[in-house]
Amino acid sequence: MSSLVAPPAERFPTYPASWYLFGRASELRRGPVSRDLLGRRLVAFRTTTGQLSVLDGRCAHLGTDLGAGRVRGEALQCPFHQWCYGTDGRCVHIPATSVIPDFARLEVYPAVERHGFVFFFNGRQPLFSLPFFPGVDPDDFVPADPFDAVLRCPYWMIGANAFDVQHFRSAHDRKLLDSPVVECPAPYARRITATFAVLGDSLRDSLVRRLAGDRVVMSFTDWCGNIIFATPTFRRTTSYGMLINEPVGRDRVHVHVLVFVRRHRGLLGRCLVDPLRARVRRYFIKEFLQSDARLAAKGLRYNPAGLRDGDEELIRYFDWLARCYEPRPLGSGDGSTAP
Ligand code: FES
Ligand SMILES: [Fe+2]
Repeated sequence: MSSLVAPPAERFPTYPASWYLFGRASELRRGPVSRDLLGRRLVAFRTTTGQLSVLDGRCAHLGTDLGAGRVRGEALQCPFHQWCYGTDGRCVHIPATSVIPDFARLEVYPAVERHGFVFFFNGRQPLFSLPFFPGVDPDDFVPADPFDAVLRCPYWMIGANAFDVQHFRSAHDRKLLDSPVVECPAPYARRITATFAVLGDSLRDSLVRRLAGDRVVMSFTDWCGNIIFATPTFRRTTSYGMLINEPVGRDRVHVHVLVFVRRHRGLLGRCLVDPLRARVRRYFIKEFLQSDARLAAKGLRYNPAGLRDGDEELIRYFDWLARCYEPRPLGSGDGSTAP
């Protein structure tokens, strides 16, 4: 048996410092939106001049849900006693007094809009910029409609799936053809790349072989265990799937999937071809993920003592991830080799 040992579950924080999906940016046109995320209430709003902000969603006064408030110029106003908060979370106005107490400030989360979605970082300072697929420009891509699922397993089991080399044959009808290459292309990022034969006899796999090719180079880039970029490259085409894992306590995870296609250059192509291609890719990626999702929906557990010979890549992934969550100076840990 391997001498590698996977870390205990306690090494994985419940809500890691990383990027998460808040929702669609278009929702903010009607005013602030609040949501239960990462074990707390958060609110997102856009000011009159267009500044985006994500804050703790409970008013510092008596805890009113600020999603029921309204935007006033550059501030968010609580509906109860009209305390107003700026985009930096500080209270800027209290109608009943000119003295603003020190406690009248809310936690602020760095927020970014991309592809019509609002993302926020769980922490005061992002440890890394909102990532995207390696080597491409986000502006060249358009997303399909997202899909999601709540799975009964710890969030760190989702990213681990890509490093679980053994399961591709049994769960996905993909036969490993070479030794996987594992690297750490950036701090907080780990990537695995391997070539597989497409073996399945389902209609979907027959179509994949006919339309795309019978071999696929699967590459997964995992950021902090909760954002995963999958780029299966076939002879004729590459697909782009992004998974964002939102922990729901320690035993559940809400997985959001965004499938992208390269944006067409012409207007007609953008209006007619892109949405169709996006739907087709979305179908294939969703189907591919189904076999794992079906099992995880019924429950998977993290069992470090159960990892054996053949699970080495998985153990190394868990070890890397646990070390990602240890405090370290910003920018450290870069390198092209994977420990
Ligand atoms: S509860 Fe928000 S102003 Fe009083
Ligand atoms: Fe899988």
